Amino acid sequence: MKQAELGRSGIQASVVAFGAWAIGGWKWGGTDAKQSVDALQSAMDAGINLIDTAAVYGFGLSEQLVGEAIKHTPRDEIVLISKCGLRWDIESPTLHAESDGKRIFRSLAAESIEWELEQSLQRLGVDHIDAYLTHWPDPLVPVEDLVATMESLVTAGKIRTWGMCNSNPADIAIALKSDSFSTNQEKYSMLDRQQDALNLPSCVKHNLAFLAYSPMAKGLLTGRIDKQREYSAGDQRIEDPRFTLEALDTLQELLQPVQKIAAARQMQTHHLVLAWTLQQAGVSHVLAGARTAVQAKSNSAAGSVELRDHELAAIGDALNAWPGYAFES
Ligand SMILES: NC(=O)c1ccc[n+]([C@@H]2O[C@H](COP(=O)([O-])OP(=O)(O)OC[C@H]3O[C@@H](n4cnc5c(N)ncnc54)[C@H](OP(=O)(O)O)[C@@H]3O)[C@@H](O)[C@H]2O)c1
Repeated sequence: MKQAELGRSGIQASVVAFGAWAIGGWKWGGTDAKQSVDALQSAMDAGINLIDTAAVYGFGLSEQLVGEAIKHTPRDEIVLISKCGLRWDIESPTLHAESDGKRIFRSLAAESIEWELEQSLQRLGVDHIDAYLTHWPDPLVPVEDLVATMESLVTAGKIRTWGMCNSNPADIAIALKSDSFSTNQEKYSMLDRQQDALNLPSCVKHNLAFLAYSPMAKGLLTGRIDKQREYSAGDQRIEDPRFTLEALDTLQELLQPVQKIAAARQMQTHHLVLAWTLQQAGVSHVLAGARTAVQAKSNSAAGSVELRDHELAAIGDALNAWPGYAFES
């Protein structure tokens, strides 16, 4: 497993991370606690030491399961990311979403972040989080104020570094005034390359970590989702236009040349997809979501794959020749 630094933080972490959204169950049709803990432990056994969770994933459940999985692992062997800023227990002026009978509000006010961090530390069973990220911007809190809040948490020893998700170059430019700001996390995959022209150039220029989320497009890019696939109630993919039968046909066109190269290298499609993502300019880590031990172990294998120049060129040609994805997720 290759390792890479979380930007300019000095923290080394496996380039493939365990993405712990799905194990929270919310938006993924439920979860199984034992299977989730097994998946996390299998990931760690396979060399993954970077775990990405968030308070809102399963409304605390994902963090609890991560805490359970790591409780016998020496703290310095794990790099923990968690996120703040989406509250389901209070109201703020900014409604983020309504889901599962809950209203989720954005808040990056200092006292809200401080309160959330204490809850996350308890659920995770640790005394600090390695990288603490804002989940979504709060239009009512200037980034300058956020910088002050995060700097104070670093000084207090409760977090080691911080970052922002779902951000933009202007906010990143302000956050860079904080020496402990190191990380940007955005949606990025073969189907989602908008960040090539948005945040990735800033991350390269300023030596920030870029963590690609949904790198397998919520499972689509594994090539394992066929027309017979059924989803549990509450799985977001039921209503996602990328998962319609028509869209699955379109996706097959994109995947064919990719699968040909994967077969020639005797690897599975998702290994090539994750390795390709990691080799895009500026991408430092991929957050691979997994719910089973088999998936987690398999995803870890991508962390030692190096694609050759001619393979990258062939995949690039296939992606460029493809008419583009007709449906936003
Ligand atoms: N900051 C943010 O706003 C944000 C947003 C989204 C995600 N994230 C982070 O990014 C992580 C990954 O994103 P994601 O979970 O949306 O999508 P993803 O990693 O692209 O896809 C995950 C899904 O793909 C399937 N899968 C994974 N490994 C597989 C394998 N080896 N073989 C077959 N199927 C496999 C599983 O779905 P099945 O149920 O079909 O098995 C799994 O739940 C999240 O867990 C989270 O940590 C962050």
